[in-house]
Amino acid sequence: MQCWSVYNPVTLQLAIILPTLNERGNLAPLVARIEEALGPDGWEAIVVDDNSDDGTADEARSLAQNDPRIRVIQRIGRRGLASAAIEGMCATAAPYVALMDADHQHDPALLPKLLEAVQSGEADIVIASRFAEGASADGLASLRRERGSTLANRIARKITGVELSDPMSGYFLLETERVRDLAPKLSGIGFKILLDILATSSPAPRVKEIPQQFAERRSGQSKLDRAVIFEFLVGLYERLFGRLIPTRFALFGTVGALGVLVHFAIFGAAFYGAMIAFAVAQATATFVAMSFNFWLNNWLTYRDKRLRGAGAILKGWLGFCATCAVGAFANIAVATLLEARGVHAILAVGAGIIIGSVWNYALSSRFVWGRF
Ligand code: GDD
Ligand code: MN
Repeated sequence: MQCWSVYNPVTLQLAIILPTLNERGNLAPLVARIEEALGPDGWEAIVVDDNSDDGTADEARSLAQNDPRIRVIQRIGRRGLASAAIEGMCATAAPYVALMDADHQHDPALLPKLLEAVQSGEADIVIASRFAEGASADGLASLRRERGSTLANRIARKITGVELSDPMSGYFLLETERVRDLAPKLSGIGFKILLDILATSSPAPRVKEIPQQFAERRSGQSKLDRAVIFEFLVGLYERLFGRLIPTRFALFGTVGALGVLVHFAIFGAAFYGAMIAFAVAQATATFVAMSFNFWLNNWLTYRDKRLRGAGAILKGWLGFCATCAVGAFANIAVATLLEARGVHAILAVGAGIIIGSVWNYALSSRFVWGRF
């Protein structure tokens, strides 16, 4: 029997990308709502799961087994909404692609309207906005967060040059080919994917916003709550200086500079305040500053690869201390050598610090937060 000759589906038009992190229970009802909005054919939903602990990928596979419209990408050892979105968008043959939260905060009933706006050529990108006239953002977790969004939006308007009410929206639709063209230039860090697409497109795309009612999450927890503003600043930095000094290195350097302040504070308190012996005070300060740097880098610089769980953190922290020891050695060696060759002491110290931090950065990004 030739099964394939019977199979004659409606041409694939739209892929809905659903990035997931612990959204197991939300998937089946979401697929039902998508089907209700789009009908039985012409679409597929691609779940891009970052190896959630709750078995989201298994659930997606079990749905997919009886429903070829559902596909699964399970990513191991990688993290991040933006990179998941890009990967999903590049994994479809559909000419149009939409990105959407898997937690039911975005209403699938809007999909036909979004598709129509791009298909008709009215806009290059159509965005479901939480802040456009007629929209509501009651589902935003907190007042603080809403304020953050407003500030972020104002800055975003400046960077993208597009007048938008919600450049951080996670619900939008565009031609897939546009994403493929832009993909090599997108940063893929964090979750500001729309902003990234807008800022990278040239000439500026024609954008249309459609108001949405941003709902409450159906179940589970938000993964982005606290980081919105921070992500935003990172986006801004990337846009302005990202090519000169990579974002991660800049973050790493900033954390390092804060570590120096911590070091001096601890040293001062121990040596001058508590009259502890110099070597002990210095060793204590070094230890605290190093641990502080590890914690802050894990929390900020490598938040998309954050080490979690006591074992992983302990291992990472030991690795980080070892890395720093090597970096300090390089730092001292270079500074001493330069100084001995007649370079001004301050310049020699500066060079030592730069060499030490580049070394620390290279090593720790590979051996502490990387996979090897
Ligand atoms: N694969 C993957 N990897 N998925 C992720 C990750 C990740 O690292 N982080 C979050 N997600 C998934 C969630 O499971 C959810 O389906 C969707 O991405 C959005 O995450 P939420 O945790 O629900 O975000 P939110 O509701 O707090 O944030 C909303 O506002 C942001 C801007 O302010 C969303 O609409 C975001 O899309 C939007 O960017
Ligand atoms: Mn959400």
